Amino acid sequence: MYQPFSPSTESLPAQLPPSGSIQWTSPSNIALIKYWGKKGVQLPMNASLSVTLRESVSHVTLDFQQTEKGLGGADFYFEGQEHPVFNKLVMSYLEHIRPWFPFLNRLWLKIDSRNSFPHSAGIASSASFMSALALCICQLENYPLKEYGSDFLRKASFMARLGSGSAARSVYGKMAAWGKHPAIHDSSDQYAIPFPEKIPAIFQNLQDTIVVVDAGTKKVSSSQGHQLMKNHPYAQTRLKQANQNFHKILEAAENSNWKTFASIIENEALSLHAMMLSSIPGFSLLKQQTLEIIEKVKNFRDKHNAMITFTLDAGPNVHLLYPHQERKMVLPFIHDQIKPLAENERIIADQMGNGPQPGNKK
Ligand code: PMV
Repeated sequence: MYQPFSPSTESLPAQLPPSGSIQWTSPSNIALIKYWGKKGVQLPMNASLSVTLRESVSHVTLDFQQTEKGLGGADFYFEGQEHPVFNKLVMSYLEHIRPWFPFLNRLWLKIDSRNSFPHSAGIASSASFMSALALCICQLENYPLKEYGSDFLRKASFMARLGSGSAARSVYGKMAAWGKHPAIHDSSDQYAIPFPEKIPAIFQNLQDTIVVVDAGTKKVSSSQGHQLMKNHPYAQTRLKQANQNFHKILEAAENSNWKTFASIIENEALSLHAMMLSSIPGFSLLKQQTLEIIEKVKNFRDKHNAMITFTLDAGPNVHLLYPHQERKMVLPFIHDQIKPLAENERIIADQMGNGPQPGNKK
């Protein structure tokens, strides 16, 4: 299989001190064109396009200590506590990426991750966490990383992808594309790239109010959902639709056509959940409140000709997207009609962000 990044050597990075600490803060992202279904090793069946968030972030601290050869390993803590489920995922991820970083055999790592939002609730905590961890490990390889450029980010995106597909896109600010698509020059299934087009003013500072309908753990994970695409009766039609929607959304962006932009985003969100419902066996991650919110958004939009749209991740929470200039009209609606439908009235005011930052600040 083609792998764009060759393994580094067994020896420790030349300037790595005996011990130290690295931090990255990395955001979640919300897909406008959804990735659903994989092939090979964590490669997408279709290309996806996302908006990088600003407030929904993971802070990862990676402490390292040199050990004798072969005595490398890691401890993982989630918000300062042991977490057996996440621990298993992190250990298998480290095992998976070891061929690219053989020097991990000579390091003991202590990894601590903290989120600014509830995990496993359809807000892509795996995207923010895996991208932050991949950035930390790529920084180990390039220690001390004084500045970083596109090669560093591309490798981090490749590494993040091996942990969680959508994490590949979190490495970049504003908007990112992952998966080979004829309309995006240099796009790749192996890693994401920053959205190469100029982002029109209307989509700059796109606002995302996340309505937390249910912060609990999902009963069907994304991995299981992707798996069910393999024998899905509508898989081929869905892949065709995603590719066409990618073309259409680029055109809408180019023409600053909000109406078309919104209709594609909604078509993608509903198609994602339609694929879940029609999987064999079928499942639904939607809640009654999810559908009520969608209905209210449509009614409000029709009545007031407002620029607001919605999307869904693999979960019941609703992302309300609107341009910055529309806040005055939209925020009172969200406060009065949508917030009461959220679990414990919890909404997260997020927006398009500038991508990961070294250190543990937001
Ligand atoms: O990154 P994963 O493997 O958890 O898959 C996420 C897939 C969706 O969030 C539903 C869509 C996407 O493109 O982010």
